[in-house]
Amino acid sequence: MNPIQGKHILLGVTGSIAAYKAVDLASKLAQAGAEVDVLLTEAATRFVSPLSFQSVTGRSAHTDAELWGAEAHVLHVNLGRPADLLLVAPVTANTIAKFAHGLADNLLSLTALSARCPLMIAPAMDGGMFSSIPNQENLHKLISRGVIVVGPEEGHLASGLSARGRMTEPGEILNRVRHLLARGGRLCGRKVIVTAGGTQEPLDPVRMLTNRSSGKQGFAITQAALDEGAEVTLIAGPVALESPCGAKRVDVKTAEEMRAAVLTEAAVSDALIMAAAVADFRPGDPAPRKLKKSAAPNSIRLERTQDILTAVSEAREKSGRPLMTIGFSAETEDLETNARKKLKAKGLDLIVANVVGRADSGFETETNRVTLFSADGSAEALPLMEKSQVAEAIIERVIVQFTKELGK
Ligand code: CTP
Repeated sequence: MNPIQGKHILLGVTGSIAAYKAVDLASKLAQAGAEVDVLLTEAATRFVSPLSFQSVTGRSAHTDAELWGAEAHVLHVNLGRPADLLLVAPVTANTIAKFAHGLADNLLSLTALSARCPLMIAPAMDGGMFSSIPNQENLHKLISRGVIVVGPEEGHLASGLSARGRMTEPGEILNRVRHLLARGGRLCGRKVIVTAGGTQEPLDPVRMLTNRSSGKQGFAITQAALDEGAEVTLIAGPVALESPCGAKRVDVKTAEEMRAAVLTEAAVSDALIMAAAVADFRPGDPAPRKLKKSAAPNSIRLERTQDILTAVSEAREKSGRPLMTIGFSAETEDLETNARKKLKAKGLDLIVANVVGRADSGFETETNRVTLFSADGSAEALPLMEKSQVAEAIIERVIVQFTKELGK
């Protein structure tokens, strides 16, 4: 499950022109299911109104006007205590300095001092201010205390100059929050490898054999494992998808490169989920130079690639790693017979079988209809689902397996 769901996030907003982007950030956090309480400094209210935040979070936004009100002596404590995260975006050099030195002269800095939850900050300021010695010293102080600093990025600044000082975009901050809040999930401390996408087998420097895999299912599994706090290595064929935040990505092209990468990682992993569509054949004699039309061959000799899961299964017999192996079975017919055969032959704990080539299931689609066959003989047919839901169902199986192992 998305780890932002149901979490209580305090969003501090300070006096930078990037404060207008904080409204979008608050909206994104609320849409992801968080309860968002916004605290604006006096300077922030000059750029953006508390009402804008109230409108997107559905909760009243707090300002220093409340500092001396009826609840004043406990407001900062009440805000800080239940929070899962204090996120300050944008954070100015002034507020960074206050945090570094423990100053408590407004509602936000008071709350930061009394809260015991993680603190994440997204600086936004002029490039010269950001790189200045006092600001850098303050940031180092905060980092050494475990504060997470996101950005800033290089780019166009309000001064008209281009330098490092732009606040990281709200979507990216949201990804960082998602990754942070997954800490302590049910796969915390577990190493998971996911493969995704198809492979490319060269015929010559410009042509290749490949397949229709989009990588979407493997990337969704990576996100689902990250959401449970796993450390994930994503071994991806050439696909045009952005890595989920927090994944270690290893890019490969050919089946042979994927095999080498998987075997290296599998030896130190808890689970392997092979969602990639690996080529079974490659051209036997790839040409070093582009094949000319005039000299085109009448046929192409193909040779078999090695089966990665079989190699993992052999290594696992000796090393015991990975503890759990999951394969996929993409079929156009005889789904159950073929899937069960592969489950056994490749020494898997679970196989995810799907019929490919339909409008709503398989390659290049947003949804999938799969059946999970287990090594113990059981089968579970899942209804048509978003690929993200299929991913969660697979990760749930990994969690169940590890919980069982711990109970032994
Ligand atoms: N696989 C693998 N190494 C290969 C080919 C496939 O590890 N060289 C993995 C896939 O990642 C998938 C599983 O094996 O998890 C089944 O892949 P699939 O293409 O359905 O089956 P194949 O074994 O290739 O058999 P066939 O193509 O004859 O159906």
